[in-house]
Amino acid sequence: MSDMISARGLIKRYKSVTALGGIDLSVPEGTVLGLLGPNGAGKTTAVRIISTLLIPDEGTVEIAGVDVLAEPDKARSRLGLSGQNAAVDEYLTGFENLDMVGRLYGFNRARSRARATELLEMFSLSDAGNRPSKTYSGGMRRRLDLAAALVAAPPVLILDEPTTGLDPRSRNEMWAVIRDLVRDGSTVLLTTQYLEEADRLADDIVVIDQGTSIAHGTADQLKDQFGADRIELVVADPAHLGAARRVLETVSGGTAQVDEDSRELSVPAVEGAASLMDALRQLDAEKIAVSDIGLRRPTLDDVFLTLTGHATEKAEDADNANGPAGTTEAKAPR
Ligand SMILES: Nc1ncnc2c1ncn2[C@@H]1O[C@H](COP(=O)(O)OP(=O)(O)O)[C@@H](O)[C@H]1O
Ligand SMILES: [Mg+2]
Repeated sequence: MSDMISARGLIKRYKSVTALGGIDLSVPEGTVLGLLGPNGAGKTTAVRIISTLLIPDEGTVEIAGVDVLAEPDKARSRLGLSGQNAAVDEYLTGFENLDMVGRLYGFNRARSRARATELLEMFSLSDAGNRPSKTYSGGMRRRLDLAAALVAAPPVLILDEPTTGLDPRSRNEMWAVIRDLVRDGSTVLLTTQYLEEADRLADDIVVIDQGTSIAHGTADQLKDQFGADRIELVVADPAHLGAARRVLETVSGGTAQVDEDSRELSVPAVEGAASLMDALRQLDAEKIAVSDIGLRRPTLDDVFLTLTGHATEKAEDADNANGPAGTTEAKAPR
């Protein structure tokens, strides 16, 4: 398989900040690479360099074999960029937005209109196609933005946090759309701060934090390598939370996560089932009543916590984590 995206040694510094400290990324044809990292990790910086919008201090990028720094226009014709709604003009209708992009690409009137209609259909926006896009929901705008990136049917798609701030249903719809595109042969680089998104969509995951790649592998490989089984426990009486915590931390040697509202605790189970048995015995000895207890396989969230020392944002809290729409990088290559 040949790499449709290949980035080597990307470095980008802003005065005091090293946004990227030497990142390598490879995306074989027809696959999805998830670039996973918290806010400020350097995801957008990498995306902007790869999509010709920003010149790196050091490093090289090839898109479909085209050197992005040497031939940016040619590279641009092979990629579609979608992120942060930026390509959408909210005063135009969905149809007009797509038609405008087609005309910018030099399509004649008939071809441009036909492509706009086709894309509205593909993204379930036909009914809304003649409404100004400022009346669209967040999910509809994201779909329109992605549709705009697809007008010229580029083989490579770069999606910068395509579902940040979306409600779960819109997120699921977007995932389905992305899966369809990959099934039809697109190569995708996707940035996300959601483990679940990387888990569901990405063939391969690169985890970055503070401009550096800290792990690389499939979701399963990362879980095996960096995750541990966890004991999860719900105490029957909230007054026992503190005592249960001490028991679990003694058994585990790790730090417990405690959710007081749900009376739930969890710790790494270093020795798997043996740790669980141990915990049960001690809880019983201390007469701590338990309404639920079990062993859970690691999730990518656990991996992330292990790697970075901090949990990721929950999807529901992440509205506008990208800042307002219409920032400068918005004028994506079309
Ligand atoms: N134009 C800029 N000037 C100064 N610092 C920047 C600029 N763009 C990004 N940064 C900094 O670079 C780091 C990475 O930012 P970014 O790539 O936007 O991260 P992410 O997309 O993962 O949230 C952050 O610390 C950010 O503040
Ligand atoms: Mg970003």
